[in-house]
Amino acid sequence: MENIICLAECTSTNDYIRNRLSELADGTAVTALVQTNGRGRRGHTWLADSGMLPLSILLKNPVEGETLTARAGLSVCTALESVCGISEIRIKWPNDIIIAGKKVCGILCEGCLNGDNSYVICGIGVNVSQSEEFFKTANLPNGASLAMLCGTIPERDVLIKAIVENVKRFAAMPFVDCLDDFRSRVLNIGKTVRLIENGKERIATAVDVSPNGFLVCEDDNGRFEVNSGEVSVRGENGYL
Ligand code: BTN
Repeated sequence: MENIICLAECTSTNDYIRNRLSELADGTAVTALVQTNGRGRRGHTWLADSGMLPLSILLKNPVEGETLTARAGLSVCTALESVCGISEIRIKWPNDIIIAGKKVCGILCEGCLNGDNSYVICGIGVNVSQSEEFFKTANLPNGASLAMLCGTIPERDVLIKAIVENVKRFAAMPFVDCLDDFRSRVLNIGKTVRLIENGKERIATAVDVSPNGFLVCEDDNGRFEVNSGEVSVRGENGYL
């Protein structure tokens, strides 16, 4: 596959790209059969398992880089819809891809948006073929794989190609042109959310997504925007 590096093993596909920024061209994608030290948001570990597809895409000098988590989410939803033939794929803001209430994919966009050498690495981890047992043993009650939810395992190469193509397509689009699609998939909108940052909790209602991809919330003190940064967003009584 053109411009897609397929490794047998690496620590983290995001780190593989970050360590080779100057030598890799814009649009290079990296995947591995096994990722041994994957990272999730807010310092979490992303479990190593051959049933999980790790994929990272390098975008140099991206336009509206701060909205790339949202656009990567849309890309994964669109790719899964076409490859797996499923609809109703939703996004738990900012970065969890949800099918039938379960997390099938997480996204970790990292980079630097200042100066002439700005870049973003879109790291995408798709739960492809793990069993129910895997999520039980790993104590991940909110996770599930495509195999569990769709009954079929998509061909790895086909899935990779579809995600990479969609990430590049959405990365080239102004976010304003994707906003309605993104909004309609964000399942937090209209719900009570628990926002947890630095151990402090704030209860609010999620009402919208702003043109810069932030979650717009409302409480007794009025409206405010939540940046994806370090905030954990949970439902009133649990994950969703
Ligand atoms: C999350 O839900 O917290 C984000 C998980 C992102 C995992 C992917 S797997 C490919 C890429 N490499 C990493 O180390 N992390 C991301």
